[in-house]
Amino acid sequence: DWTMGKFVDQEIERIRKLVGDKGQVIGAVSGGVDSTVAAKLMKEAIGDRFHAVLVDNGVLRQDEAKQVKETLTAGLGINLTVIDASKRFLDGLKGVTEPEKKRKFIGNTFIEVFQETAKQIAAEAHGSSAAGEIEWLLQGTLYPDVIESISFKGPSATIKTHHNVGGLPKDMNLKLIEPLRELFKDEVRELGKNLGIPEDLVWRHPFPGPGIAIRILGEVTPEQVRIAREADVIFIEEIKAAGLYRQISQAFAALLPVKAVGVMGDKRVHEQMIALRAVETTDFMTADWFPFDGAFLKKVSRRIVNEVDGVCRVVYDITSKPPGTIEME
Ligand code: XMP
Repeated sequence: DWTMGKFVDQEIERIRKLVGDKGQVIGAVSGGVDSTVAAKLMKEAIGDRFHAVLVDNGVLRQDEAKQVKETLTAGLGINLTVIDASKRFLDGLKGVTEPEKKRKFIGNTFIEVFQETAKQIAAEAHGSSAAGEIEWLLQGTLYPDVIESISFKGPSATIKTHHNVGGLPKDMNLKLIEPLRELFKDEVRELGKNLGIPEDLVWRHPFPGPGIAIRILGEVTPEQVRIAREADVIFIEEIKAAGLYRQISQAFAALLPVKAVGVMGDKRVHEQMIALRAVETTDFMTADWFPFDGAFLKKVSRRIVNEVDGVCRVVYDITSKPPGTIEME
């Protein structure tokens, strides 16, 4: 019979056999549950011969790179390199307004940065006597991703480019290691708890690879990133305070780049709008907007307008998926 404890032991054994006692593995982490669980499993199996890489693309959530570093390094003992590439990403995003162009640029730049980092880490690992070369790439692919990439090879695969699924460097000549490929999301969470990963992280809402760049409609500038981040922090904070975080599948603040008139204090202002999005879903293929009560929305709206410079209105997105998508771009 199948138990989580047994799975962990067997998987660690399997990884050790596969990688051998000199082999090195590299893998990108995002701070999400899948990549963290996969990374922790590698750490348990081969210690510091697993090299985690977090690419700060400048469009992560507020303080996210710092928090992920704390959790993975201090908390979980994972050998992590954080690369701050935010300038490179933000420079490249200048003037880009089309959603698919944003996605492609971020996806491609991510691969470039990851490859450069992998080379550096490989050189260092090779220099130290005990280590062999890096020949493995860790991916946190889940069973539903495996199914989706098999069944969606048709035109639907190009509806949106999801760069976290099977999109990593093919010319790196690395062998894939995918310890979660037989698991569903709830099993990954179970496994995460079993491996001592903090509850907060285990229940984290999914976050797209292109980050808040696809939650800032139109051009992504450092100022727009600031506004979107600050509004998002308030929204998520209030959702957690109201005890709704787990009931909601995904929630975020998006920035609409249009201006409306408002009165703040006794001044007339002309500023942007924040759109709140919160959905309930089981499979992320269809989703319903979350029915907050009026008092909750009133509180969030008041806080965002008062606390976030540059915003004078807040709207709530009441579009289901379909026809809407969960993200706004
Ligand atoms: P949509 O917007 O397609 O989102 O309804 C469904 C789920 O996928 C996530 N998503 C992405 N994840 N790269 C990602 O890694 C992307 O480009 C991307 N686009 C959407 C979205 O956050 C939701 O969980």
